[in-house]
Amino acid sequence: MKIKMNGQTEDIRAVWMEGKTVQMLEQRLLPHKVEIFTARTVDEVCYSIKEMVIRGAPSIGVCAAYGMALAAMSGDDIGQAAEKLKATRPTAYDLFHAIDIMQKAVGDGKDPVQSAEDYANSIAEKCRLIGVHGEPLIPDGGTVLTHCNAGALATLDFGTALAPMREAHNKGKKIFVFADETRPRLQGAALTSFELVQEGIPHAIIADNAAGHFMFRGEIDLCITGADRVTVIGDVANKIGTYEKAVVAHENGIPFYVAIPVSTVDFNLSSGKDIPIEERSQDEVLIINEKPIGPEGASARNPAFDVTPAKFITGFITEIGVLTPNELDKLRMTMGQ
Ligand code: MRU
Repeated sequence: MKIKMNGQTEDIRAVWMEGKTVQMLEQRLLPHKVEIFTARTVDEVCYSIKEMVIRGAPSIGVCAAYGMALAAMSGDDIGQAAEKLKATRPTAYDLFHAIDIMQKAVGDGKDPVQSAEDYANSIAEKCRLIGVHGEPLIPDGGTVLTHCNAGALATLDFGTALAPMREAHNKGKKIFVFADETRPRLQGAALTSFELVQEGIPHAIIADNAAGHFMFRGEIDLCITGADRVTVIGDVANKIGTYEKAVVAHENGIPFYVAIPVSTVDFNLSSGKDIPIEERSQDEVLIINEKPIGPEGASARNPAFDVTPAKFITGFITEIGVLTPNELDKLRMTMGQ
């Protein structure tokens, strides 16, 4: 991803390894400040995931893979490191997938840093292919709605949901993107818009509750989101608010696509009701810019994700092509690559 840093344009990833450190873009400060956060221990890597210095399912997975490499290089107990990293965020399946791959690689005596790099590069390549397979779905002159941030910050290099939009834009198609602001953490307003500005892709940030209005008026041609975990029958856990958007899209006959690499599919789960849903601090809802938005004594609930049943999903844009929920099993063959 190309971003302007210290007066220069740099090509950097959301997370990478440098010597015995894991480096990442400090996403809590974007879009106003571009800073690098350095994690030197597994505990610091855990902090970065839990506190959302880094976020987005595939990026969390890659960060954890580097955390495992760090543990191996430092002579830490690998089992303990895996447990700590797995306890950071419960919903994104990439986290568990990446840690299991790394635990096996270290157990098999493979070079930990090279294994983590291979994992990171395989995710980046899958996202590139998601862009290639998803691009034909976006018509020239089309308008796409996306929710949260499923771009290069949430993955590496291309993004999942944003990859087809990048590809369409780079091919010269005139597209327009509606980016849901995505309360309470504002990943759409802060991060998706940041990426679209960097790429020069025309877009508008909309309040979360405005999407239905634009769908009803015929101003949205299709929706594309990412996912944190997908079950074998195609139920999807993604950022809170995704479910509502999918239902309204269905009601208005608008295609709703979910863009994912294989690492997001939990082949052990069938019903979306069994996906663990993270509930974060009520302060994320109650406080904006350090000011309380409700009266003293007000409380809030803050689920970070919701589940969209497969029946509302038109297709999954994956590294092997666009699959219906019934065809997800085909991704099993690409596991471990
Ligand atoms: O809480 P976050 O910011 O980690 O949530 C991110 C999302 O919900 C993304 O849509 C999802 O991880 C897919 S990222 C390619």
